[in-house]
Order: sequence, then structure tokens, then C-alpha cells
Amino acid sequence: MCGIFGCVLKNGNAAPIIHAALKRLEYRGYDSVGEATFYDGRLYIKKDQGKIDEVHKIHNLDDLPGNLGIGHTRWATHGAPLEVNAHPHVDCSSNIAVVHNGIIENFVELKLELENLGHVFKSKTDTEVIVHLIEENLKADPSSSLADAVLKTVRRLDGSYAIAVISTKQPDKILCARNESPLVIGINENAVYCASDIPAFLPLTNRAVIVEDGELVVLSREGFKISKIADSAVVVREPELIDWAPEMAVKEGYPYFMLKEIHEQPACLRNTLRLQDHYLDLMATFLDRAREVFLVACGSSYHACLAASYIFSKLAFLATYPVIGSEFVEQHGKSVNIESTILAVSQSGETADTLASVSGARERAATVLGLTNAIGSTLTRVSRVYIGQQSGPEIGVAATKTFTSQLSVLAQLALRLAKKRGKISQDEMDFIAEKFDKLPDTVETIIQTQEEKIKRIAKKYKDAKTFFFLGRGVSAATAYEGRLKLMEIAYVPSMAFPAGESKHGPISLVEHGFPVVFICPKDGTHRTLIGNIMEMKARGASIIAVIEEGDEEIKKLAEDYVEVPKGVPEVLSPIPFIVPLQLLAYYIAIERGHNPDTPRNLAKSVTVK
Ligand code: AGP
Repeated sequence: MCGIFGCVLKNGNAAPIIHAALKRLEYRGYDSVGEATFYDGRLYIKKDQGKIDEVHKIHNLDDLPGNLGIGHTRWATHGAPLEVNAHPHVDCSSNIAVVHNGIIENFVELKLELENLGHVFKSKTDTEVIVHLIEENLKADPSSSLADAVLKTVRRLDGSYAIAVISTKQPDKILCARNESPLVIGINENAVYCASDIPAFLPLTNRAVIVEDGELVVLSREGFKISKIADSAVVVREPELIDWAPEMAVKEGYPYFMLKEIHEQPACLRNTLRLQDHYLDLMATFLDRAREVFLVACGSSYHACLAASYIFSKLAFLATYPVIGSEFVEQHGKSVNIESTILAVSQSGETADTLASVSGARERAATVLGLTNAIGSTLTRVSRVYIGQQSGPEIGVAATKTFTSQLSVLAQLALRLAKKRGKISQDEMDFIAEKFDKLPDTVETIIQTQEEKIKRIAKKYKDAKTFFFLGRGVSAATAYEGRLKLMEIAYVPSMAFPAGESKHGPISLVEHGFPVVFICPKDGTHRTLIGNIMEMKARGASIIAVIEEGDEEIKKLAEDYVEVPKGVPEVLSPIPFIVPLQLLAYYIAIERGHNPDTPRNLAKSVTVK
């Protein structure tokens, strides 16, 4: 997730406006930043890696001439956070500049095509293909306008994008286009703006126009003109008045980042389905050749690894050992060796306990692989191969979208491994791949249809002194994660364990009205799980069940239930089934008067051991 911004002013300098706007978009990405303006026949560009304030201190982002320009604050997905990968990107002759938020899925083939036409690429980003494609289209038809060239370009792009383009070809215009990544237009008497989010221009105007998917926008001193990318049909859309306070606007109207990020999960899951095959296949190869595989992480990332251990086993028949980061060296430090592979999972890429495990493993010549949300983090630098999960910055301390994105990437790895090892038929592959594609919509449906019910359940149980979270099989990992969410943001002491463990001790705690959350996908554990529910009911527990839609059997047993759409395969079930538990924890925290974004005693990235 990155932040883009552009402005055309009737009077005044664009650079300081762009700089201030990027500051207001910094929550969308902050590993590099850049601006480009147009003045007196040429483009002026300043960009570098680093946070906006750091780059401004070195380069003075306000010191660019011209009343028109674009800017970008980056959250790296393709290419490390380096100056060369920072946006804006320019064409071979530095006559065109583009900023982009999104993921171009077909950039590898486009890049090859353009290189064969003689284009010279400087960066490792997917974005750079856009500006060279525009250049190529203008070269092919010099009489075409910038809008025509951009239109031809975006019609060739697969994937998500929100772009802003300026060029010496038409120095008084900014061209924008949108597919999936957000894009809004702001307008006042003196200027017209384009941005990823409303906060970028809210202090300058509260008149906004939301650009829809598949639309192209031309910004000029006269205002804005929207048309359809598909057929160039003109779109008439009046500005609406935004009544958010700036603080609310940064959260896009959500009261807290955590709720915004729970709601972002469908978009994040779509982004994890756009990973580059090359890195998934490379990582699968390393996992395949390992004598033993450890999945090392902390907190929610550890719960993703726990779920992954079931998924790797069930799909690829590969035994993997999930290990908590702070325990790895104690538990395996002596046995790990050159034939071992460590897949370290860390959304921040900076968790000290996880990095200490990685360092211990490297000392013993083990192979280290990394899965992280932070390109350029320490984990990416110490990994033989790493994958960026592309969730965008997660501001809330509690992991939500990064957790489900990790699960998606790990399950994709397991699927590739299953194919590589011949453990799965093509039909099974196709079946699961088809279900993967449906996951974002499934999560969207859960949020849309169950959130109000979950609010009511949260109100009903807000004063409960403790909870159990129980599941069997891969749902045990979901249970652990649901429990962590409730503990860390609502401060409710809770327990989670495989449901089969209840009779080995914990059930002694159960008394009348004791809330027990069961995660009940219709998988191989369903029948036995019903027995566990009966055990709890017999002792007076209040059953809260997350069930597959229409599961009449468990509906009859539960005091309260939340429904997940049918058809999610067991190995993917933690992804949708955790969403109701994220919402339950969030709403109980709200009911108890806590700020879920900044829970006491916790930090977003635990960089101490
Ligand atoms: C999760 O909600 C917590 N914020 C915490 O457990 C977190 O998952 C853990 O610290 C690991 O962080 P990482 O993924 O950045 O390594």
C-alpha cells in the first residue's frame, strides 16, 4: 500500500503542497518518498529512501519549481526501499513521470517486451513498466495526446493500480487512472488534487470526488474530467462534501485503525494472490530439499506458522516444526544444521526473538527463508529468499490483516510444494486454487453480514471474566489467535488449546455461564468437535460457535453463533474463521472502554529480547 498525490494549481508552488499531502498519507507507507514537478519545459524530481522528514531534511522537498506536480510515499512490494526504486519513475528521456499504488501482475512480460524495444530500466519495481509503456505509446503515435497514451497503457495492465502521470508532452495536465487501488479527486477555487486517500487534501478542500475502478481522469486548471477506460465514455460526477475531521479521515472514517485493517483484509488477500511466481517457486524448492523445516515466529505470526504446519502436512505431506522465536535456540540450537531450513515469519521483519533464532540457525549453516510485510527489514537482509506479503502498513498494534495475509502466502507455498512433490492431483490443485480466489469475497461477506451480530455478542459477554477458545486440527491455531486478540486489546484473561485437551485438565474451570468459543469448520474434526461442545454444555458453559453457514447441528447447541460462507476448504479455513474473532475482540475492547489501536504494555514491533 503506498500513497500517491498530485495537484494542479492556478497560483502558487506545487512542491510544498505535495510535501504536506504526502505527510498526511505517511500511514500508507514510509520507506521512501519522492516528488516531481513541471516547470519551464522540463521535469524536476527529488526522491530517496527513508521517511518523509528524513528525505526532506536532505533534499528539501519544498524546493521544486512549478504549479503542477505529483508525489509518492512508498511501502515497498517490488524492489527494496532504495533511492532507485523510489517513485516517481521516469521514461528513458525523463519527459514523463509516474507515481503508482498497487501491484502490476503482468509487469515481467511487459518489461521484457519494452526492453526488447530498447527501453532501459533503472529500478526493480513493477511501476516502471507503466512510464516506459506510455513513452512507447507516444513514440508509436506522436500525434496522440498524453491521455490517449495513458489510456492505451492502462488497458494493457493486469492487477491493481492508482496512478498519476505528468509529462512535458502536456505540461498543464495530470493524468490519473484507477483499478482497485483507491483514488480520490479534491477541488477548490485554486486547485484540483488527486490522492490515494481524502486526508491528503482535506485541509485544502472538503469537496471530493471518488474515482471508481476502470476510470481515467484528466486534471487541469479548468478542473477534472472523468472517462471510462473501457470505452472512453464520459462520466459526470459531482463532488461530495466530506465532513470527517482530519483525524477520522486518516482512518477513512473508521474509529480505529484496527477496525479499518480488519475491513482491509479482502483487499490484502487479493494482493497476496498477486505474488510473483518466481519467489514462491524458489521458496518451495528450498522447502522441498530441506531435511527438516522449522517455522519460527512470535505471537500472531507464530499462530500463522502453527496453522501452516497443518497445511504443509495435509497438502504437501511435509512435516514442519512450528517453534516460538524465543525458544528456538534453547529447543533446537544444537540440532539445527546445514540440512535444516528455517522459514522465519515476521510482519515487521524486526522481531528480536525471531531474528535471534535466525542468527542462531545461520551460525549452524542452516538455510534461512523469510516471510515479511516489511521489504528492506532485517529479516529480508538475512534471508536466502524472502517473500513480501504485500499487506501494506499495519498501524494497529494487534495483527489482523497481516495475519490472514501470512496464512494466504503460507498456504500458497504449501500448494506449490504439493504440486512439486506430486502429492496433489491437477483437479485438487484447480479446486483449491479456485477456492483461494474466492477467499477475499468470503471475508467480505463475513464482515458485511456478521459484524452487527458480533457487536451484539460482544455486548452480551463484555463483562465475562475469561473465555476459552477451542478448535481441532488447523482450527486450534485459529483458537490461539482468537484468544491472543481478546487478551491483547480487551485485556480479558483467556485460554486456548486444542479442544481434545479440555478433558486433560482445563475443563475443571468450566462453570455455569462460562463462555467457550468454538471454531467449527465442516471439516474432518466436525463430528468430534460436537462431542467437545457437549462436554462443555454439560458443565453449564455458554457456547459461542463460529460455524459454516447453515450448520443446523451446532446452531442447536450454541447460545450464539456466527456464520462463515460455505465451501472453504479445511486448509484455508483459518483465514475466514479468524475474522469473527478479530471483530469479537475489537468490539469487546470497545465495550470495555479500551483503545484497540494502542493496547497497554504492547508495541507493534518487539525489537527487544
Ligand atoms: C499480534 O497481535 C501482536 N501484536 C504480536 O504478538 C506480534 O504478532 C508479534 O510480536 C510478532 O510480530 P512480527 O510478526 O512483526 O514478528
